[in-house]
Amino acid sequence: MRALPHVLLASLSLASLVSAHKEPKTADEIEVQRALQAAAYHCAPAVERFTAARKRSWARKVVAGRPELPNFQDMFSAGVYEDEPDALPSSDSEETIMGCTPISTTKIQNNTCVLAPEVTEGPYYHEAGHLIRQNIAEYQDGLLLLLDIGVIDVNTCKPLPNVLVDIWQANATGFYAGHPIPNPNHINAKPQVGGKRGGLLPPFPRTNEVETWLRGAWPTDENGVAQFTTIFPGYYTGRATHVHAKVFPEWTPHPNGTFSGDRLVHVGQFFFDDEITLAVDKMHPYTENPIANTYGRTRNWRDSLNVFEDAQGPEGKYDPTFKLHFLGGVIRQGLIGYITMGVNASVSHDNWWQG
Ligand SMILES: *[C@@H]1O[C@H](CO)[C@@H](O)[C@H](O)[C@H]1NC(C)=O
Ligand SMILES: *[C@@H]1O[C@H](CO)[C@@H](O)[C@H](O)[C@H]1NC(C)=O
Ligand SMILES: *[C@@H]1O[C@H](CO)[C@@H](O)[C@H](O)[C@H]1NC(C)=O
Ligand SMILES: *[C@@H]1O[C@H](CO)[C@@H](O)[C@H](O)[C@H]1NC(C)=O
Repeated sequence: MRALPHVLLASLSLASLVSAHKEPKTADEIEVQRALQAAAYHCAPAVERFTAARKRSWARKVVAGRPELPNFQDMFSAGVYEDEPDALPSSDSEETIMGCTPISTTKIQNNTCVLAPEVTEGPYYHEAGHLIRQNIAEYQDGLLLLLDIGVIDVNTCKPLPNVLVDIWQANATGFYAGHPIPNPNHINAKPQVGGKRGGLLPPFPRTNEVETWLRGAWPTDENGVAQFTTIFPGYYTGRATHVHAKVFPEWTPHPNGTFSGDRLVHVGQFFFDDEITLAVDKMHPYTENPIANTYGRTRNWRDSLNVFEDAQGPEGKYDPTFKLHFLGGVIRQGLIGYITMGVNASVSHDNWWQG
């Protein structure tokens, strides 16, 4: 990763988890997963251009293109602010690019990250009730986090406009809206020791139907990007800090502002670099996490259920972490995170990753 102090790779996550983590198991499911991943590698150059254009757009908004401002260097390196690179690398080099290594023939460096592997949706999704909105923070206190999520179709390597990106995450102290208290039957439960579920507690039940915070969905714009305003997520036992996502090319909006997903093409989880999460851990209200002084935060490499590992794909070539930049001169002024999801826009699959 680059030496620039403000260019932060990321991954983290929260967690208490899933009763039944399902993985692609049948020959058909595994084949679909492999084909998707192989196809996504070939989209690497397109993803580089896509990301560069998004960063240019943000750089103009945030620092007005003024190099003397403190975050200018960190928002975008010189090359990123220039016009699109003309020469693209040959297909030989594409595979390594997914690991966020630089493309030598362009000036864009280390900012290409794609999330393609599908992983479990976990126990905290609400089928009904995610509002169609861009600012999902509501009254939740925490570090400002803007998300810039691009979606490409791995069949064409082109951005996908008008697909609904649906996200949900825990608050600064590790709770999901609607699931505030531990399951009464497991009030004294201890996290499981060892094994794939190591570190996990039984999932907290949904006891508060009306809460909607830190959940929301927004369609990608004509450039295939959905932007959200949220807070940096907190952590819970067993899981690395993460944000969940689903992508629906077809959905039905309801009069009350929520929607029903009609066709699902992706279920995934985004992570944050442990390095940046370590800094966030020291900020209020993240310091108030009830397990801060007991179990503490789970690092990406220790993520239970292998979620972080699975999200990197079978060959470890994907980077499911947001690329984070400071919005201002210091971290407290907030962060912006970029990531691109590679999905197969023509599938209509059962959600075999359902928790
Ligand atoms: C990009 O990341 C790779 C791998 O982490 C690192 O070796 C390389 O030095 C980085 N390039 C730059 C320009 O920072
Ligand atoms: C996308 O899904 C379609 C329909 O299942 C399939 O025919 C095609 O091979 C898939 N493409 C990739 C790149 O996996
Ligand atoms: C997170 O949500 C829980 C459950 O609703 C709440 O008790 C806690 O105060 C929230 N954390 C913050 C930082 O507001
Ligand atoms: C919103 O409307 C949908 C569809 O009628 C319904 O299933 C859902 O429960 C409603 N949600 C709320 C919070 O009223």
